[in-house]
Amino acid sequence: MKVAKVDSAFWKGKKVFLTGHTGFKGSWLSLWLASMGAKVTGYALAPNTTPNLFDVLEIDSLIEKSHIADIRDLANLQKAMSQANPDVVMHMAAQPLVRYSYANPVETYATNVMGTVHVLESTRSIDSIRATVVVTTDKCYENKEWVWGYRENEPMGGYDPYSNSKGCAELVTSAYRQSYFSDSNSTNKVASARAGNVIGGGDWSEDRLIPDAIKAFEANKPLMIRNPLATRPWQHVLEPLSGYLILAQALYEQGSAFASGWNFGPNDKDNRPVQEVIDLLIAGWGESVSWEKEGLEQPHEANLLKLDCSKAHSRLGWVPKWNLETATQKIVEWQKVYQAKKNMQEVSLSQINQYMSAK
Ligand SMILES: NC(=O)c1ccc[n+]([C@@H]2O[C@H](COP(=O)([O-])OP(=O)(O)OC[C@H]3O[C@@H](n4cnc5c(N)ncnc54)[C@H](O)[C@@H]3O)[C@@H](O)[C@H]2O)c1
Repeated sequence: MKVAKVDSAFWKGKKVFLTGHTGFKGSWLSLWLASMGAKVTGYALAPNTTPNLFDVLEIDSLIEKSHIADIRDLANLQKAMSQANPDVVMHMAAQPLVRYSYANPVETYATNVMGTVHVLESTRSIDSIRATVVVTTDKCYENKEWVWGYRENEPMGGYDPYSNSKGCAELVTSAYRQSYFSDSNSTNKVASARAGNVIGGGDWSEDRLIPDAIKAFEANKPLMIRNPLATRPWQHVLEPLSGYLILAQALYEQGSAFASGWNFGPNDKDNRPVQEVIDLLIAGWGESVSWEKEGLEQPHEANLLKLDCSKAHSRLGWVPKWNLETATQKIVEWQKVYQAKKNMQEVSLSQINQYMSAK
């Protein structure tokens, strides 16, 4: 198998319409695309934490245009996308939190399901678009709590509103692909991408393991963990982002053969329990910090979740490059540079370059 690389020459000058550019993954992807010479138009709500990666990396100054707007507003989205006249659309805007979705199901479905309908609907009238990647999640599958990884052809599901809304977003993507983008006259080729639990420097979201850990370490308090034995497919944020970039290029250059769903998860040994991730992070942090199990009753969350990524390995040549040890080292490195108030664009770009040259 030939291992695929993110191809800077392909991205140079490409016009990319990216939803969710103010978020954690969106800020990393904006930086990466801008560093390769792509012209990015972003569309998302304003960042909702202080600090946040979008401001820390000064993404606004790196991209062509940043629309601070709502994907639930179809007319506005259509206008912004058609003005951008993009070659590639990457859809990452979402309400991405499980616990928030239990409290706010209507908002979660409106954003994740109708938001995806609006993005795909907007692409229909724009002839320039050659590739659209819709980002969902590993949680879109019907979870059977088994030890095997889910394959792309397994049923969609989702117990909680977040997971289920992403299963619905997959079904929407599939219906749009079949109804509007499958005949040979359609130039836009549409795929979806299901990635694992993403970690990396610069995530300040509420209710996520690594941000909670860094906050606790910085405050010198023990980290409270809800479910230390829950197993997740952990991966550094650059891993799935490289998958999305390689997939978009394959859609753009080779068309329909790649217009389907794709898993981008870690190698089997990085499907690990929460407590092992925290132990690695604590070892790297190098100060006396600790964790404790939270006693409160928690809403349902899956215990066992794994992706089978054979399809991406064999057909796209995408393979994971950084294991969990490396990923946690990169987080510690990033956070320590941030604490030292140094230039964060520089350290982030250096991590992107290290990732690109890793074997
Ligand atoms: N972080 C993970 O572990 C993970 C894992 C699997 C999949 N994902 C998916 O990756 C994508 C990005 O996640 P993230 O971790 O960067 O989340 P994030 O919360 O950091 O970013 C979400 C982005 O979506 C935007 N957004 C939310 N509601 C919107 C609306 N109504 N209109 C316009 N924009 C809106 C936000 O402004 C932000 O830019 C999401 O689709 C998420 O479901 C994330």
